[in-house]
Amino acid sequence: MSTPAPSAEVSMETIVALCKRRGFIFQSSEIYGGFNGFFDYGPLGVELKKNIRDCWWNDMVRRRDDVVGLESSIIMHPKVWEASGHVAGFSDPLVDCLETQLRYRADQLIVFKVSQTNLLEGQYNPPGETVGWVAVLEASFEEMFKRALKRLDVLRDVCKLRGELSLESANPRSYEDCWQEVAEKTLGPDAKKAVGTLKQPRAFNMMFQTNVGAMTDASSVAYLRPETAQGMFVDFKNVVDTGRVKLPFGIAQIGKSFRNEITPRNFIFRSREFEQMEMEYFIHEDADWSKAHQEWIEWCRSWLLSIGLPESHLSLYEHKKEKLAFYSRGTTDIMFRYPFGVQELWGIAARGSYDLTQHANASGKPQEIFDEATKKKFVPHVIEPAVGTDRIFLATLCAGYAEEDVTDEKGNVEKRVVLRLSPRIAPVKVAVLPLLKNKEALTQRAQALYKKLQRRYAVFYDESGAIGKRYRRQDEIGTPWCVTIDFDTIEKEGDTFTLRERDSMSQKRITESDLFALLEEQVY
Ligand code: GAP
Repeated sequence: MSTPAPSAEVSMETIVALCKRRGFIFQSSEIYGGFNGFFDYGPLGVELKKNIRDCWWNDMVRRRDDVVGLESSIIMHPKVWEASGHVAGFSDPLVDCLETQLRYRADQLIVFKVSQTNLLEGQYNPPGETVGWVAVLEASFEEMFKRALKRLDVLRDVCKLRGELSLESANPRSYEDCWQEVAEKTLGPDAKKAVGTLKQPRAFNMMFQTNVGAMTDASSVAYLRPETAQGMFVDFKNVVDTGRVKLPFGIAQIGKSFRNEITPRNFIFRSREFEQMEMEYFIHEDADWSKAHQEWIEWCRSWLLSIGLPESHLSLYEHKKEKLAFYSRGTTDIMFRYPFGVQELWGIAARGSYDLTQHANASGKPQEIFDEATKKKFVPHVIEPAVGTDRIFLATLCAGYAEEDVTDEKGNVEKRVVLRLSPRIAPVKVAVLPLLKNKEALTQRAQALYKKLQRRYAVFYDESGAIGKRYRRQDEIGTPWCVTIDFDTIEKEGDTFTLRERDSMSQKRITESDLFALLEEQVY
């Protein structure tokens, strides 16, 4: 018996607390105070992440005839990153605050206009006159506005403003777009003593540098890859020559990428070390790229639904033509409604033949394919769906988390935390629970089932505590099913167990073979 609580939006604090409490994610190097932008995945976290990765790999590579896999090295020849444009252009606009020495991304600093409605000390300002600007870090609009409102008091103190101030909420702008106009009168997001301390934005390259070999000089500089995609371009000819592939076909890769993000934040949403799952889908230069692009957008959206993300949290954002790189034909992002706002989850870009052409020019090795029909060589074009595993991980937790009031048979109401993860990705698929731990017949049967399940699935054996408490522990980590070995199992014919379903909390009796059939159907 349960009454789902009204679906309140979960806060990031709740998700972070759950991750720590149940061992999904820890701060990296926590005993040394943590390391900003880096995270460790704990025992349940690695299972969930591995399941997301495996689902993607199975669906993207193994279950398709037109996509093959690759694992390229993380550190590649530095010329790769010159040819790709990353050395010259993989940068974010960085803004320094002279007062606090803090740094921000200019495109994430949102500036609100502040008007005086009556008196500024010693002089009269007509109502509506702009007296300053308040910059706050990007978040959902509501939160941003609240933060800007709070900072009005600081602005008032700093500028000795008197009387009523009003904040223009309708049209906030990014500092990147308007710094020339507003710089002198802007209160930085953490400043307390002065306005005008935010500097002009400057390009900051986000690639991590290292040195390869015994010498540490300019000639030994190399980079940790900021994306996995370049591996697929650089190995394009190797795959074509050895992989028995024919256009259209894709090369997929899962692996770590590294970016020295100026403002890593929102937990694992934007970190400095993260995992990407990328696929480069090569098509004929004359193929209908727009159709291929649309098909991949739909494939990615359906795949997210297949691992349990709700449609209500997903939306599409088409990048404006004027903001695209010159070679790009179109980019659409699948957006997800996180607690901190609607943000990019998966980017699907139509990149023309830019990347292969760049590498052909820089290496002197043609990156072409021979067209049997026209007897001509050409450079294929590419559609690139690129997603971060960690962002999917976070999305599944945010969408799956719920707190419910549950009424037991005696009428007592209690709270249960439940993580509604799809069985495809849940870290534990089944919990095996003997009703009593001091009854050998029960524990023996439970152990036998547990061992058998363990050969194929991630399962958990738990014999301590009241059965209700054990169910709750599994609900909180998203285990879709609990199997209880009770007296009916050992005393009645049929060797059946109680199967308890996480979301509905309904219970029914099930045989071992039916349990395996259920798992076979739902965990794939
Ligand atoms: N090869 C194209 C590329 O890398 P991107 O939009 O920069 O495109 C692709 O990255 C995906 O990687 C993003 O949609 C996001 O899911 C993930 N991602 C990018 N930067 C990230 C970061 N700092 N932390 C976590 N995930 C990130």
